Amino acid sequence: MTTSDPTAQTLEQLGVKTLEAVGEKFAELRQRFDDQSSLHFSNRENWQVFLVKWTGRKSGVLSQITNNWLKMASPELKPVVGQELNKLKAHVESIIAERQRAIEAASEQSAAARDKIDLSLPGIERSFGTRHLIRQTFEELQQIFIAIGFSVVQGPEIETPYYNFEALNIPEHHPARDNMDTFYIEGVRNSHLLRTHTSPMQIRTMEKEKPPVRIVVPGKVYRRDNPDATHGYMFHQIEGLAVDTDITFCDFKGTVEYFAREFLGPKTKTRLRPSYFPFTEPSAEVDATCHVCGGKGCRVCKFSGWIELFGAGMVNPAVYGFVKYDPERLSGFAFGMGVDRLAMMKYGVTEVPLLFQNDLRFLRQFP
Ligand code: PHE
Repeated sequence: MTTSDPTAQTLEQLGVKTLEAVGEKFAELRQRFDDQSSLHFSNRENWQVFLVKWTGRKSGVLSQITNNWLKMASPELKPVVGQELNKLKAHVESIIAERQRAIEAASEQSAAARDKIDLSLPGIERSFGTRHLIRQTFEELQQIFIAIGFSVVQGPEIETPYYNFEALNIPEHHPARDNMDTFYIEGVRNSHLLRTHTSPMQIRTMEKEKPPVRIVVPGKVYRRDNPDATHGYMFHQIEGLAVDTDITFCDFKGTVEYFAREFLGPKTKTRLRPSYFPFTEPSAEVDATCHVCGGKGCRVCKFSGWIELFGAGMVNPAVYGFVKYDPERLSGFAFGMGVDRLAMMKYGVTEVPLLFQNDLRFLRQFP
């Protein structure tokens, strides 16, 4: 309080001697209080300072009046000062309480406004996963063969040289073993390996099942040192095998044509090029007319009009010997497709790593 503050002095020092003069002083104070309370009401910090200034226990205006005016008043003035002080106190308290309630109500309201849930806002969209392009392609390929009576079987990725090579008419020291760049399992060299193709399932199936056999085998296969544009260390194949008493090369060719039309479109044509696999005889590479240019020549088919689909052939009778099938009575065909290659070709994917990096920007393109 500054010294010009009347409550810092006694009434006598202020020259207040009459009852009227006491009434005037209190009226002045009351007016000052009313002015300040409306002035500081809107600002939280000023309001706190204002509260202390009027009701502070030590040097608040009301305490000062008690100490400097009331206690020091002359006996004649004392009762009136007491009455006036009580009135002023009651006024101050009621105004403060009223304003305090208004302040609280306002802050409650703004908190409510802040926490309010706006039901018209769009919800948070949770994204769903989708099947990977390779998985989708597997299912597409399987479906094409299921539709003509094939069933789907799966087999082990850890194989023995017998199933992976020998029973497929690839004896030890046969150069075809080198081409396959096999991963052998450590410590059991020559006893176990990671299958280099899905063809071992031809043998496992014929060992177990009597003819007729019509299967497709989707799965992972492994080869070392094949980091070219179309193969990683692991890639996916789908094997096919059909064996019965009367399966001819025409059935083989018809199946190939059916497949190419289903997979690449009804206008697709196919051609067979002579090839070699120890477990098929004759063997063929199956080509299809390019699904992008229709055979005219474009970047996808490297301007040849043709794209390579898969390796295939009539089951080599030598294989039947390993599974105790009668080569005189039975015949069939087999094929092995590189699923990654087919998926990339059909969906225009140019880099193998894209298939394995699980980059959502890539995956979302194949919902
Ligand atoms: N297994 C062969 C490979 O991986 C493909 C194939 C399967 C060829 C069946 C003919 C018959 O290259």
